[in-house]
Amino acid sequence: MSVMESPDMMYSRFLQTCDIPVEGKRIEPFTMVIFGGAGDLSQRKLLPSIFYIFRENVLAGGFSLLGFDRTGLSDEQYRTVIKGAVREFGREPFDEGTWDEFSGYLNFLSGDLEDDEKFGELRKRVDQIAIPDSNGNKNVIYYMALPPQVTPLVVKKLKEHNLAKGEFRTKIIVEKPFGHDLRSAEELNKILLDAFDENQIYRIDHYLGKDSVQNIIFFRFTNTIFEEIWNRHYIDNVQITVAEDIGIEHRGAFYERAGVVRDIVQNHIMQIFGLIAMEPPIAFKADFIRDEKLKILRAVHHMDEGYLDKFMVSGQYGPGTIRGRPVAGYREEKNVSPISNAPTFFAGKFYIDNLRWAGVPFYIRTGKRLPTRITEICLQFKQLPVKLFGRTCDTLEPNIIILTIQPDEKIALRFGVKYPYSESHIYHVNMVFNYNETFKMKVHPPYERLLIDCMRGDLTLFVREDTVEEMWAIVDPILSRWEGNPPEDFPNYAAGDWGPAAAYQLLERENRKWITS
Ligand code: BG6
Repeated sequence: MSVMESPDMMYSRFLQTCDIPVEGKRIEPFTMVIFGGAGDLSQRKLLPSIFYIFRENVLAGGFSLLGFDRTGLSDEQYRTVIKGAVREFGREPFDEGTWDEFSGYLNFLSGDLEDDEKFGELRKRVDQIAIPDSNGNKNVIYYMALPPQVTPLVVKKLKEHNLAKGEFRTKIIVEKPFGHDLRSAEELNKILLDAFDENQIYRIDHYLGKDSVQNIIFFRFTNTIFEEIWNRHYIDNVQITVAEDIGIEHRGAFYERAGVVRDIVQNHIMQIFGLIAMEPPIAFKADFIRDEKLKILRAVHHMDEGYLDKFMVSGQYGPGTIRGRPVAGYREEKNVSPISNAPTFFAGKFYIDNLRWAGVPFYIRTGKRLPTRITEICLQFKQLPVKLFGRTCDTLEPNIIILTIQPDEKIALRFGVKYPYSESHIYHVNMVFNYNETFKMKVHPPYERLLIDCMRGDLTLFVREDTVEEMWAIVDPILSRWEGNPPEDFPNYAAGDWGPAAAYQLLERENRKWITS
């Protein structure tokens, strides 16, 4: 780049816009009905996100919001509650001017979700506030910001009251956790599909809204140098780490029921796993991409009890220290049983039975109260077959590609070079591409991105019925095995450690080790 060149000029030289079809990408006027509109999720994530989307002027076509909850609030009181939430949880300093404009679009309906009359009232309110699109249709998005056990009731009511496929053109957004196991996920899918068509259903996994997760597809399928070696011929093993330093925060009751496998492995990690391992889709279209991810999930090697006992590791944190600060153990957290067996750590080895990956272990680990927050994927390459550098070659480090999803979004390639002035010393270096340093621009946080996609009717980053069930089919045997054989050693890692000793042994006994950037 010459000194005089502005960043914009530079990017326009390198930016290649692909002709990905953009039909259906306009945001038509819509009304979003938020069930659980005054609840935790709505206040912390949903409404602050819609506020920032609004601020960007992408909702110029017209919209309205209707919170539905049993809190007995008036429209005005609801606006006050949400104002407080945007102020507290918004990602940028509060902006009174934008708020004044935005608050005019907020409405509230108080009532019980079991009350049929309320659904009649709901129809009237939506009919009043919805702005028809250019074809005269009233578009409605239902957002289930509810405890998962309540969602089926609401979906049934929407169907009974002809609000699912009746006079409005509708979509429905369903939050995770999507079911509690395979059977309940199938049941929930059945209820949803009885009321809506699959292409009206947006199952959210916020990991898919992360730009760096989406980049996995771009990185893999636009670079000859990587795609050609992305297979069992060159790769020794793949590692996926989703580490969190936070504990369970205010969610003790939820976590007691969920545990780490339901909370992170079944959804976020399985999605990353699918993207890393899938075959190229035949085109960049929602269903083609989702088809390929599904094929990978279906090809996961069957795991019997012997396999599970040997290659799956569970853990729960005890008291410890994170960055010099003492923290309580899981069993001491609020709303957690002092004898709880809920796992807060998972490590395991998976195989994919297909031509690309046969024999390549995929090691996965995730946990709460680990030393740091990092999500990354490491692909470790095989060693060269010849030991050109004599004995030093025995200790040569392998080449590694590291895709860091967060906190810093970057891609690193690790390779060996000659150490200056030495005769035979090899030094391993990282060639790093850092998103923020290169692009210096903000991307939408995951929730905003996914909401915009749903408003536009783009299903690419949402989870399909068959995929959600397949992800459960993978983790269900792990859950049954663990729940049928409660651990005797919990808590088995101290807060601030990288999980229990068994997680290290999982790799060490195969002469490998966990990689961190
Ligand atoms: C949520 C889990 O889905 O993802 C939380 O329920 C977890 O337990 C969170 O903390 C992690 O998300 P992120 O985007 O911070 O990695």
